[in-house]
Amino acid sequence: MKLFSSLYPFLRFFLFLSDPEILHEKVGLLLRVRHFLRRWLPYKSTARTQFAGKPLFSSVGIAAGYDKYGKLFPALMDLGFATVETGTFTPYPQNGNPRPRILRLPSEHAIVNKMGFNNPGIEKGWKEIKKGLRKIPPNAAIGISIGKGKDTSLENAVDDYKFCLDVIQSDLLPEEEKKILYIAINISSPNTPELRKLQSRGYIGDLVRKVVKVSQFPVLVKLAPDFDTDEEFTQAIESIISNGAYGIIISNTTVNYADAGKKADAAKNFGGGLSGKPLRERAEYLLQLARNAAGPDIPLISSGGVMSPQDIQKRLSMGANLVQVYSGFIYFGPSIAHY
Ligand SMILES: Cc1cc2nc3c(=O)[nH]c(=O)nc-3n(C[C@H](O)[C@H](O)[C@H](O)COP(=O)(O)O)c2cc1C
Repeated sequence: MKLFSSLYPFLRFFLFLSDPEILHEKVGLLLRVRHFLRRWLPYKSTARTQFAGKPLFSSVGIAAGYDKYGKLFPALMDLGFATVETGTFTPYPQNGNPRPRILRLPSEHAIVNKMGFNNPGIEKGWKEIKKGLRKIPPNAAIGISIGKGKDTSLENAVDDYKFCLDVIQSDLLPEEEKKILYIAINISSPNTPELRKLQSRGYIGDLVRKVVKVSQFPVLVKLAPDFDTDEEFTQAIESIISNGAYGIIISNTTVNYADAGKKADAAKNFGGGLSGKPLRERAEYLLQLARNAAGPDIPLISSGGVMSPQDIQKRLSMGANLVQVYSGFIYFGPSIAHY
């Protein structure tokens, strides 16, 4: 793995000659073939931590949006990630925004995306997940991220989240339930019009309470990093907790393009959410704020700008229970999992 990680920057040069989405498809296929060929090898996955009462072989996982179709998580776990947040899934299939919708900013170790919840819909997604759950290693488990459809009004949004849960729960075997860590309520993608309004006082408490009430799984809420004030952010945290959520994922991508430094204009002109290194400082700050507001016992998952094993250790020492990577995996490869 050490040799691979030192060669990765050279490999990345060639990989990045490909269009980001085509590369994602090719890498996904390669990972699945690798997983298939290694299927008889024993897993080295002794429990190292636990989350939501389940043992995990590592505190690091892949953030939502990498496995949007629910097909890649066993192969990603085989690379060393103990958790994968699949999705985001909406009630019905969506094509997302037209391509190009991913922009790499290599000089900043950043990505801008305006995918818009392209996904197969929860029914098809859940069928894929069920197949994959049979193939995952011991001490690994998934999260399932659910979102509202692009044409659903804010007033009816709660029905979309409940619909997704219902599809999962109405066809759930006990051995599958054991491998699902949590359901993530995604109300923070910047690429579904108005979605982030669900984070505001008028919606968030009601939404969380109604979803928690029907969920068999621990419910986590994924927040954006772009609250106007710290007070608004901590109010959202308090509302999430007081309405029964199990924990919080902080954070999604940012629309504060200024963080992209000399590439700020390029990011702004492309539009969508910025992730990777420019998000690091903000994500660390919000983790600290959330830990203070939530107290020591509420589970927090840290996402945003985790670009190295040292970053993973730092987030854990700052009070994160689990850490997720996305851009760091794209820029530095699978060795990031070994913190
Ligand atoms: C191409 C792309 C697609 C994403 N799709 C989703 C998604 O469907 N749901 C979600 O909650 N987050 C999504 N995200 C956000 C990531 O899960 C993560 O929170 C964000 O990228 C910050 O982490 P990073 O700096 O490690 O990339 C996406 C990110 C990228 C780059």
